[in-house]
Amino acid sequence: MEKNWVLRWIFVVGLMCLSVEGIGVNWGTQATHKLPPDTVVQMLKDNGIKKVKLFDSDDSTMSALAGTGIEVMVAIPNNQLAEMNDYGRAKQWVKKNVTRYNFNGGVNVKYVAVGNEPFLKSYNNSFLNITLPALQNIQNALNEAGLGDKIKATVPLNADVYQSPESNPVPSAGIFRPDISGLMTQIVQFLSKNGAPFTVNIYPFLSLYGNDDFPFNYAFFDGVDNPVNDNGTPYTNVFDANFDTLVAALKSVGFGDLPILVGEVGWPTEGDKNANAGNALRFYNGLLPRLAANRGTPRRPGYIEVYLFGLIDEDAKSIAPGNFERHWGIFRYDGQPKFPMDLSGQNQNKFLIGAQNVKYLAPRWCMFNPDAKDLSKLPDNINYACTFGDCTALGYGSSCNNLDANGNASYAFNMYFQVQNQNPMACNFQGLAKLTTDNISTPTCNFIVQIVNSSASSLMMPSLVAILFVSLFLILFS
Ligand SMILES: *[C@@H]1O[C@H](CO)[C@@H](O)[C@H](O)[C@H]1NC(C)=O
Ligand SMILES: *[C@@H]1O[C@H](CO)[C@@H](O)[C@H](O)[C@H]1NC(C)=O
Ligand SMILES: *[C@@H]1O[C@H](CO)[C@@H](O)[C@H](O)[C@H]1NC(C)=O
Ligand SMILES: *[C@@H]1O[C@H](CO)[C@@H](O)[C@H](O)[C@H]1NC(C)=O
Ligand SMILES: *[C@@H]1O[C@H](CO)[C@@H](O)[C@H](O)[C@H]1NC(C)=O
Repeated sequence: MEKNWVLRWIFVVGLMCLSVEGIGVNWGTQATHKLPPDTVVQMLKDNGIKKVKLFDSDDSTMSALAGTGIEVMVAIPNNQLAEMNDYGRAKQWVKKNVTRYNFNGGVNVKYVAVGNEPFLKSYNNSFLNITLPALQNIQNALNEAGLGDKIKATVPLNADVYQSPESNPVPSAGIFRPDISGLMTQIVQFLSKNGAPFTVNIYPFLSLYGNDDFPFNYAFFDGVDNPVNDNGTPYTNVFDANFDTLVAALKSVGFGDLPILVGEVGWPTEGDKNANAGNALRFYNGLLPRLAANRGTPRRPGYIEVYLFGLIDEDAKSIAPGNFERHWGIFRYDGQPKFPMDLSGQNQNKFLIGAQNVKYLAPRWCMFNPDAKDLSKLPDNINYACTFGDCTALGYGSSCNNLDANGNASYAFNMYFQVQNQNPMACNFQGLAKLTTDNISTPTCNFIVQIVNSSASSLMMPSLVAILFVSLFLILFS
């Protein structure tokens, strides 16, 4: 009886420790208008998010995270990998971007991400030779600084670094991509030696995207009619199958027990016929309870450390991969939740807590001028607006795809006008546009009003200085 009680107590405490682990999020900042870092950190706190993955190591972000106890993965962007091949430079990086924050009340750095998906085929092998030396230098610099036990360097990789052979397309046959298998083996050896995890980004949405033969339900977690049969193990979703393909690939090079961290997983809400709030909700409603219950995968039952992608929409991301790229956020551009979501995995039908005290620009929009006579320049002007503004919501399958021709023009003009902080000169378009204070949104398509850019003050300083100089010049020489 006594013993039973102790066991139960240990079990409960164990569960509590596990639930402290919780889910992480990716905080990307490729947006024309960013919320202030303090506001974003408050969002993390309000929603009980205790882990965050960054794509750099920006001062203002790190300062906002200081003292919160939130676990942080800082990052070295791909374009700094070459520099990190110099050990002295790597030591400098660690000193400035890790050690400096390592004090009581500082930033709880847990990982350094060395590069971001550097072996993507689209990078033409540019980072093939410089990623491993950078990883080694950063971890060695962490070790030399006495931080190696607590802080691990890792390389977030795309799931395209491993595969199953076409002749035997089951997870247990997983191997590393043949063109980089030697390199991957060395990376895995180094991670293992330092007690660091393998970091992988897994995207069921991308399995579905552009692949009409992909079984739709297999991208989600509610089961399929024909599970993939891997020597008696049924796979009912591509996330498990993908993850276990990696487990097999690791095993094939002798490191079947290397910890795996999922650096990115999520579902976009615009920009493709499958990118919408309904599918995102279905995906997260499947994923989050499994993670909370520590179900793991058939080959790796138990807890998986996972970072959702992403926290907030980023309207300045490249859309080379697709229009959906700017819409991965579980929050909109202004930090407001898009759909009900329960990060604790209990599938409670409630919304996340949005950003507080958001400062918006004035309620003003730019629209197509219906009185315009010469429409010959309209296509060029829309094109211009959409080059600098984000028109991805106009595309097929997106929320603004049902607008008429005038509506399309208005949408494009408004996005440009908002990106330009509602500068009146940005709402002319050769007389084709006009300002309005009427909300021209439609029931499905939101014509946004931008937020006040948090980095506006730092941009204003140089222009203030410029104005001062010009005035001085005028006074002196008039
Ligand atoms: C620290 O990180 C920032 C942002 O990622 C980077 O631009 C900078 O070069 C780093 N500092 C050093 C000394 O390496
Ligand atoms: C990769 O190569 C292709 C074809 O040569 C080129 O179009 C593309 O810009 C290159 N990408 C990078 C990242 O260098
Ligand atoms: C990487 O290094 C190998 C061996 O030094 C060299 O043959 C290859 O051209 C390099 N690849 C790139 C993309 O720089
Ligand atoms: C509006 O723009 C979208 C995206 O460019 C296009 O698919 C649609 O056909 C346009 N609608 C009209 C009525 O021009
Ligand atoms: C404009 O109207 C839409 C749809 O009714 C609404 O969601 C949005 O909040 C409104 N925008 C402003 C700035 O009031």
